Amino acid sequence: MILTDAEKAMLAGDEGAAKQKAMDLLVRYADALGAERFADTSNVAGVPGSSSLFLHNYYKARGGASYETIFSLFDLDADEVVPVPRMQPNSCHLQGGLDPVLWREQGMSEEAFNHQMQDEADIEAHGIKVLKTCTPYLVGNAPKFGEHCAWMESSAVVYCNSVIGARTNTEGRESTSAAMLTGKIPDWGFHQDDFRRGTHHIEVEVPVDDIFEWGMLGYYAGGEVQENIPVFTGQVTNAQAILHKHFGAAAASSGGVELYHMVGITPEAPTLEAAFGGRRPMQALRYGAAERKRTYEALNSNGTNPDVDYVMLGCPHAALSQIEEAARLLDGRRISPNCNLWIFTSRIVKLQADAKGLTKAIQDAGGLIMTDTCSAIGQTMPKGTRVVALDSAKQSHYLPAIMGIEAWFGTTQDCINAAITGRWNGSLS
Ligand code: F3S
Repeated sequence: MILTDAEKAMLAGDEGAAKQKAMDLLVRYADALGAERFADTSNVAGVPGSSSLFLHNYYKARGGASYETIFSLFDLDADEVVPVPRMQPNSCHLQGGLDPVLWREQGMSEEAFNHQMQDEADIEAHGIKVLKTCTPYLVGNAPKFGEHCAWMESSAVVYCNSVIGARTNTEGRESTSAAMLTGKIPDWGFHQDDFRRGTHHIEVEVPVDDIFEWGMLGYYAGGEVQENIPVFTGQVTNAQAILHKHFGAAAASSGGVELYHMVGITPEAPTLEAAFGGRRPMQALRYGAAERKRTYEALNSNGTNPDVDYVMLGCPHAALSQIEEAARLLDGRRISPNCNLWIFTSRIVKLQADAKGLTKAIQDAGGLIMTDTCSAIGQTMPKGTRVVALDSAKQSHYLPAIMGIEAWFGTTQDCINAAITGRWNGSLS
């Protein structure tokens, strides 16, 4: 690797032991990737030093579980505990494991809650913004076009690369924590122009214009291209942030899509030729009625019982407009006594929902708005849940596997209807 003088000094320990360990980890990581240099980054999203109760107790049983212990031994892969200084100003913490207010409803213990609060205080004390969401780009961390970032969370990574045109690989806890200390990340993969060209062309032959349709198209595309870079043309319309949010999350679930281009929509695809950088696509695919039907059936493949006892909305975390939509669809009606409705969002959006009376409207209907986590990440659902209804292709992919339940996938309207009636009546029109 070619290191600058400043990077060499950090590696030599001139800026303290923590930065030395972080640089050592990043050099090992860059060598494994085959990177030749580092990119400077001042936008890092991760889970620095954060610990679940399980992780905390693991270290406690081995002699100590302070924030610095976990950051040193786990995040930095160091062989000793070192003092951890404040991070760069633009570092943020992604989603966590429980709602700081509704943790009892989530079935979490007081011990887990108390630990999470201490964890959060430690994170804040190190200069990290506690956004606690998988959608940092909606709540105060929107990078610039072309900016080098170091982000975890697959749904955020694909949004950052594709919709904003900023540059990040899907980083891990270790590399993001090290990047928060050093402001460095290997200049490799999606940081480089050459890596960002499209590989597969997908012509969309059916109208794709809402969350449901965008989610299915993303799920289809991820399954087809896996970790490659799809380029879309055709009938994709209504390109709002919340649709990209569902689309990218789905494509990163059925496959490993970290970047996509939509011609005339996303910033690196003004034309088809620009999206492919002058290269020929490796494969040309068509998304028509048959592919749409196949995708819908795949997403509903484990739903057999129409009695729905849980409706979960907000994956990725709901934007304010989605909470407004849920309240509008509820239209003053109460949800079934046999069903629960939990909507997940960020704590910042929840404050907006509170101010607009939306939280009260959802509560009056019998539902709850929760923050910081979700059913998949927190592994939390209403007690006794057997069948869930979802409007997120990503959550439909993961939740049945993680929690061993049945899942139905449909429109937000289908899900709200299921919450009100306790029955699944969704279908593909
Ligand atoms: Fe976010 Fe949970 Fe979905 S963290 S992207 S809501 S799986």
